[in-house]
Amino acid sequence: MGKRVRIGLVGTGFSAHFHLASYRKVYGEDFEIAGICGRNRSRAVELACEFDISTCYDTADAMLRDPLIDAVDLCVPNYLHVPLILQAAEQRKHIICEKPLGGYFGPPGAGDDWTAEGASRATMLQQVLNEIHTVEEAVVRSGITFCYAENWIYAPPVAKLNRLMAASKSTIMRIQGEESHSGSHSPYARHWRTAGGGSLLRLCVHPIGAALYLKYEEGRRRDGVPIRPLSVLAQTANLTAIESFRREPVRHIAAGWSDVEDWASITITFEDGAVAQLTSTDTHMGGIRNYITAHGSRALVTANINPNTACQAYTPDGAYFADEYIVEKTETKEGWSFPAPDEDAVTGYPEELRDFVGAIATGRPPKSDLMLARDVLIAVYAGYLSAERGTVVNLREVV
Ligand SMILES: NC(=O)c1ccc[n+]([C@@H]2O[C@H](COP(=O)([O-])OP(=O)(O)OC[C@H]3O[C@@H](n4cnc5c(N)ncnc54)[C@H](O)[C@@H]3O)[C@@H](O)[C@H]2O)c1
Repeated sequence: MGKRVRIGLVGTGFSAHFHLASYRKVYGEDFEIAGICGRNRSRAVELACEFDISTCYDTADAMLRDPLIDAVDLCVPNYLHVPLILQAAEQRKHIICEKPLGGYFGPPGAGDDWTAEGASRATMLQQVLNEIHTVEEAVVRSGITFCYAENWIYAPPVAKLNRLMAASKSTIMRIQGEESHSGSHSPYARHWRTAGGGSLLRLCVHPIGAALYLKYEEGRRRDGVPIRPLSVLAQTANLTAIESFRREPVRHIAAGWSDVEDWASITITFEDGAVAQLTSTDTHMGGIRNYITAHGSRALVTANINPNTACQAYTPDGAYFADEYIVEKTETKEGWSFPAPDEDAVTGYPEELRDFVGAIATGRPPKSDLMLARDVLIAVYAGYLSAERGTVVNLREVV
C-alpha cells in the first residue's frame, strides 16, 4: 500500500460540493480531503464541517505551499485554472482540474469591462496554444500527475458504450452528442472575461471530450495509438437575443449573457475520416440533456446520462415533490419527470475521482489526462475561429 494521498480542494461552490459528495463514494483508495479554501471563508468552514476537513486555508497560495498537501483539486472559475495549475506544478502538487483546461480571457492587463465582441478568434487560439504549451512544460518539468476532470468518460452509460464498441470491434464512423440545459447558475458564466467562451466552451466540452476519448480508445485497441481530431467546423448563435423572446414577460430560460454565445454546434473530423456532430445550448428546457451516440460499423449505441428512464414519475402538483431533488436544471416538478436515482454516480463523478486518486497514488496515468484536456481546448478555440471565418479549420495548419 502506498502513502495516503492528501488532497486540498480549491473552491466552495457548485462543483466543489459535488466533488466532496463524490469523494465519499470513492472506495479502495487511501486518501483524505485534508484542506479547503475559497474566496468566502465562512462557506469553506461550513463545507469543512459538513465533510470533516481538518484545515481551512485563507488562500489557495497558502494551501499550495503547505507540504502536508500532496494534490489539489481545482473547482474554481475557468480563468483561474491555468494560473493555479502553474502554481501547483511549481510546488510539485498533483493536479485535478475541472473542465476546461483554460481559455482566453482577454489581452494582458484587460480590465473587468473587457468584452470579446470584435476580439480576434485567431489571437484567442494562438494564446490558448501558447498557454497549453506552458502547462505541458510545467507538468513534465515537475513530474506531477495531471488529471482532467472530464466526468463523461467515467459516466456508466458512456463507459458501457465504449465497452460495446470494443466488444463489437466497431469502427466508430459517426458520433452525435449534446450537453444542454436552461442556463448556467454561475455569474462567471455570463462573461467571456471569466468564462473564456459560451456554451461551446462551458457545455460542449463534455460531449467533445467523450467523442475524442472514444476515438482515442478505438485507435489504441486496433493499432496501439489514439485516433486524434484533424479539423473542425463550428457555428455559434445567441438565441436569447431573438427579439420576440426578449419581449416575453415570463421567461423559463436564463438570459442576460453579455458577450458569450448561448448555442453552438461543432463538427469534428478525425484522422481516419470519422466525424463527430456535437451541440450545446443554454436554452434547453426540461432538465439537463446529456447524451452521446456512437454509430459504429457493427453496433449503434446511445448513452443517455440525463435524462434516462431508470426512474419515471408523475405528479399533478410539483409541490408534492417540493423537498425532493428531481434532476439537474429542471424548471418544474409537475407532470411527468425523469428523476435521477443517483445523479452523481450516473454522471461519473465518483468513478472519475477514484481513477484520479489511484493515478496520483501509483503514478499511473489517469484515463482523462492532459492530452484529452489539450485536444478539447484546441477543438473549442479552433471552433471559435471556424465560426468567425465560416470555414473548416484544419488543426494541422494551426497547431
Ligand atoms: N464537470 C462538471 O460537470 C462541472 C459542472 C459545473 C462546473 N464545473 C466546472 O467547475 C468550475 C467551477 O464552477 P462552479 O460551478 O463550481 O462555480 P461556482 O461559482 O459555483 O464556484 C466557484 C468557486 O471558486 C471560488 N473562487 C473564486 N476565486 C477564487 C480564488 N481566487 N481562490 C480560491 N477560490 C476562489 C469561489 O469562492 C467559489 O467557491 C468551472 O471551471 C466549471 O467549468 C464542472
